[in-house]
Amino acid sequence: MSQDFKPWGGRFSEATDQFVESFTASVTFDQRLYHHDIRGSIAHANMLAKVGVLKPDERTRIVSGLQSIHKEIDDGKFTWRVDLEDVHMNIEARLIDLTGEVGKKLHTGRSRNDQVATDLRLYLRDAIDDLQGRTGQLLNVILDQAQQHPETIMPGFTHLQTAQPITFGHHLLAWFEMLLRDSERLEDCRRRVNVLPLGSAALAGTTFPINRQLVAEELGFDAVAENSLDAVSDRDFAIEFCAVASLMMNHMSRWSEELVLWNSQQFAFIELPDRFCTGSSIMPQKKNPDVPELVRGKTGRVFGHLMALLTLMKAQPLAYNKDNQEDKEPLFDSIDTLRDVLTAMTGLIDAMKPNIDAMRKAANDGFATATDLADYLVRKDMPFRDAHEAVGRTVAYAIDEQKSLDELTLEELRKFSTEAVDDSVFDVLTLEGSVRSRNHFGGTSPEQVRAAIARARKRIKV
Ligand code: ARG
Repeated sequence: MSQDFKPWGGRFSEATDQFVESFTASVTFDQRLYHHDIRGSIAHANMLAKVGVLKPDERTRIVSGLQSIHKEIDDGKFTWRVDLEDVHMNIEARLIDLTGEVGKKLHTGRSRNDQVATDLRLYLRDAIDDLQGRTGQLLNVILDQAQQHPETIMPGFTHLQTAQPITFGHHLLAWFEMLLRDSERLEDCRRRVNVLPLGSAALAGTTFPINRQLVAEELGFDAVAENSLDAVSDRDFAIEFCAVASLMMNHMSRWSEELVLWNSQQFAFIELPDRFCTGSSIMPQKKNPDVPELVRGKTGRVFGHLMALLTLMKAQPLAYNKDNQEDKEPLFDSIDTLRDVLTAMTGLIDAMKPNIDAMRKAANDGFATATDLADYLVRKDMPFRDAHEAVGRTVAYAIDEQKSLDELTLEELRKFSTEAVDDSVFDVLTLEGSVRSRNHFGGTSPEQVRAAIARARKRIKV
């Protein structure tokens, strides 16, 4: 193939400006679509032969040419040429190199516009399946940790202030719920990704007697796109994926923030494994939680990609515009980032060791059972607002006395509330009594946590 070959060169009388060539090229980043591009081309050639547009032996030569190109790329022996602009034209040019005239017939009834939309959907569908597998692993690892800790007590927080005692298992299950919804969103997004654009050609369809259903079946698409203009131009499926990815990153970022806090000397709730941390070049005592910090940090780029794609699309008239070439890098980077983040979180959650004593002590020091005392007074017939007030004064007193609530005497407790307080109050003032009593669907009691874990195992679909 001569250096100045351009599949679209016919109408041009001067060579492309060197700068314009590289400015308009996408091959440096879209070459990762090669597998899906070749799959799509093989399905297209098979269909063209079935409807009689290609002769059987032409189909055979095209398909085997495409297969050897796939192997060349796999083996790193393929030369990508920027002057050939993108992955599609690089592969087509090589096909013509290998098969001669017959290779020029592959593009019959097709355009790069429906080709690239097809490639991208195939690529994203595989990426979603891979991400779902990783999400499933993380979901299971959360349950494995939770299973160890249905009774482990820690403080639950609101406003990052100790609020009420909870079980560590219950806390972990909160992250499980968020991630399970993310997984459902991925599944839902996949349904709209898995629609075939091929056959739309440049924008208006083709004059050849194509059979799009056949192509859809070969490529595993659930449906054929109904409208050719829409199919070649909209990238809402990529935007939707980035929105789902952003929500997932949002969850992973919040969770990472918690891991960073909990791993600090001040909290010391968990110990992260050495192999997931790094040291400081100047402070020898440091063991930094770089992995969760980076998960938190990488969230910004995925949010940014969502905004980039929304902005990319917002002013495009129908149908295809070259703007859409800019869809790839944000999409690819979102996929790559999310994949690594799921791997990182799975490793972290699997290996983190909770410091049970520190968690318990923090719950105990924070008057976490104050609400339990108020509820107790209500059961002794005190209106809740009065009980709230009485417990507030009790806590203030305990702070002065440097005692925890369960260290107060019956007399001290009665002084701030009612004579009706009896020995049974100490059952509710203990951390164990407190969590045990929140024993309803969705509550933090060990019994509920065990039941929730059993249900959760069955709710994982991926
Ligand atoms: N590289 C192009 C893209 O990513 C392929 C489609 C080009 N189509 C065109 N009419 N120039 O969008």
